[in-house]
Amino acid sequence: MSLSSKEYRSSVILGVGSYVPDKILGNKELSLKVDTSDKWIQTRTGITERRIASIDRPTSDLAYEAARNAIADAKIEIDQIDLVIVATITPDMAFPSTACILQHRLGLGKVACFDLEAACSGFLYSLDVADGMLSSGRYKCALVIGAEKMSSIMDWQDRTTCVLFGDGAGAVILSAEGKGPELLGFRSGADGSNPTLLHQPAGGSSKPASKNTLANREHFLKMNGKEIFKSAVRVMEKATRELIAAHGLELSDVNHIIPHQANVRIVESMAHRLEIPLEKFFCNLDRHGNTSAASIPLALDEAVRNDLFVHGELVVMVAFGAGLTWSATLVRF
Ligand code: COA
Repeated sequence: MSLSSKEYRSSVILGVGSYVPDKILGNKELSLKVDTSDKWIQTRTGITERRIASIDRPTSDLAYEAARNAIADAKIEIDQIDLVIVATITPDMAFPSTACILQHRLGLGKVACFDLEAACSGFLYSLDVADGMLSSGRYKCALVIGAEKMSSIMDWQDRTTCVLFGDGAGAVILSAEGKGPELLGFRSGADGSNPTLLHQPAGGSSKPASKNTLANREHFLKMNGKEIFKSAVRVMEKATRELIAAHGLELSDVNHIIPHQANVRIVESMAHRLEIPLEKFFCNLDRHGNTSAASIPLALDEAVRNDLFVHGELVVMVAFGAGLTWSATLVRF
């Protein structure tokens, strides 16, 4: 079997870390706020609880904790980091970037920092971008984070969305040198033809904040759940197949899959279509809900802490999100 689809050296993951706020919001407690039930949420989504950050804790705060954990895990000095990318759709503010805010808080040098917005695919897009920047030789060590305070854009009167999401952050240290799991390749794409399937209508330049946008609750996330569900299964299946084929592999060569943690029924449909046993899919969405860009690194960190991956195993991480965007990454542990 051939593995190489890159002409350049793969970057390696030196360390992984994550963080979730202490406050647990269970389905029962949620059903006191909005017309839903534990049974409906569990059977339709697989979610039992999610973490919610307090009002005084912005996304950079969650990112900070996850970054500290990843830096400690990587056992590197902080001044080795020369690139910071934060994937998020819930930045502290429109600008400056959450990455810049984080740079100062972490006491990093005056290194390159930016946010990347690809919704729930943002973390894998960021790995794709960071890997390219490291392979250029112009950067040596990247801190890549997925962090979200989804509770800040939830409409707590809309039962079709507020039961699905949670807050959290996950981070990795990527390096051009050293030993660790290798990023072998990527498959990222997007289809911008139907942006309103999943969006936050107001607050941007097309609909600046006004009394009307506030009254119409247009600063909250809006979603066509059924269409997103169908697209999610289709694009994650396609990205996984293409990624595996590009490396001259068979789907049966894949040891584990870390899918975007949105809905257990999406994961089951994907497993069915790929004819990959469900046991190969790592899920922690029951305890976190959908944490958007934080979902994959949060799951990755938990899988690593649980020693799920054996040396040499192949892991696919695959996500989809608003845009629509999608991205798949192949890692050799
Ligand atoms: N509690 C109780 N009932 C609810 C509910 C809730 N939280 N949310 C919706 N319902 C109701 C609906 O009003 C509808 O009632 P009706 O039949 O009387 O009209 C019924 O449940 C079925 O709704 P439906 O939308 O058909 O449910 P579904 O099986 O499609 O599940 C989602 C809804 C949102 C869970 C599912 O479509 C989904 O997960 N989509 C993908 C979302 C996603 O992943 N988004 C993030 C992308 S990164």
